[in-house]
Amino acid sequence: MAQTITLLGLESSCDDTAAAVVRRGADGHAEVLSNIVVGQNDLHKAFGGVVPEIAARAHAEKIDLCVEQALAAADVPLADIDAIAVTAGPGLIGGVMSGVMCAKGLSAATGKPLIGVNHLAGHALTPRLTDELNYPYLMLLVSGGHCQFLIARGPNNFSRIGGTIDDAPGEAFDKTARLLGLAQPGGPAVQAEAEQGDPKRFKFPRPMLDRAGCDMSFSGLKTAVLRARNETMQKNTIRRQDVRDLCAGFQTAVVDVLMEKTKRALTLYLAENPTKPALAVAGGVAANTAIRAGLESVTNELDVQFTAPPLALCTDNAAMIAYAGLELFEAGQRDGMDLSARPRWPLDTSSAPMLGSGKKGAKA
Ligand code: KG4
Ligand code: ZN
Repeated sequence: MAQTITLLGLESSCDDTAAAVVRRGADGHAEVLSNIVVGQNDLHKAFGGVVPEIAARAHAEKIDLCVEQALAAADVPLADIDAIAVTAGPGLIGGVMSGVMCAKGLSAATGKPLIGVNHLAGHALTPRLTDELNYPYLMLLVSGGHCQFLIARGPNNFSRIGGTIDDAPGEAFDKTARLLGLAQPGGPAVQAEAEQGDPKRFKFPRPMLDRAGCDMSFSGLKTAVLRARNETMQKNTIRRQDVRDLCAGFQTAVVDVLMEKTKRALTLYLAENPTKPALAVAGGVAANTAIRAGLESVTNELDVQFTAPPLALCTDNAAMIAYAGLELFEAGQRDGMDLSARPRWPLDTSSAPMLGSGKKGAKA
């Protein structure tokens, strides 16, 4: 008879300290028993981005408390945990080390197996936890730190078929908001303004649509917004409607790029003849209603299922690490005390490495 498996997961690769407990029941269904996330926004607010040293110190202070809270909220004693999963990269190295050291300590003290998880695999496997998607499916990861298309074929089998060559879309939203004097994080603020703006007034570029493939670029867009803002300010002081129109023009450009590149990624994925084709989207930017609507229309056109996990499991969290750890545990992975923290760790080692480093660390 199938057994129940319970994993504790730890996440500390960026600016959220998190711990969670996930269990797969004897019936095969996985369930999130607890999901504790302690953010660090207040600590970094004054600096306009995540400060790695501050992040690492805060993770070291909070991670064991998060573990305690996650176990208590799940009502599962440490003794009943089958294995301990931890993000071992990619990310800000000091933060990743805090999590890995804590997980090693727990593993050494209890004798429970230790499982190092790639943060990106955590995101990419989430739709299996939330929607029980079958392999293979296409994942579009869009956040402040990531932007890539992955074909997921197994917990250790991903092909990256495209991604940003510079900024992640969330960074572009945040920088655009900053240029226009809107609140951070910029995504929700830009979206709210865009809803009342004219997307046709300003002509913004659709970067890299003229190039074959699924790679994208978003850094030029914010420069275009800056130029348009400065030109508008030369004629007049910038008015609320100008801000709305700039936001609408910017957001529509992002939507157009993501829609076209998703169409191309789906074509590559559909060539594998999946029995139940599906596109899943994850990351904070997946909260954007215009982006979701655009992606949904592409999937409808191609008769592909569209799914987006609930926001709490789309953004950084430890339930996704516990779940990925669970699949890796079932596949036989066990790590030793030599598990190292990796600032860069591409999910797909056969494709070319991503360029640059986002505001939230290496893009892997
Ligand atoms: O996944 P996430 O919470 O953190 C990481 O980047 O790892 O994503 C945060 C990003 C921020 O850049 C934020 O501006 C963006 O997601 N975001 C949005 C929206 N809500 C959050 N971007 C566009 N539209 C939104 N509604
Ligand atoms: Zn992430």
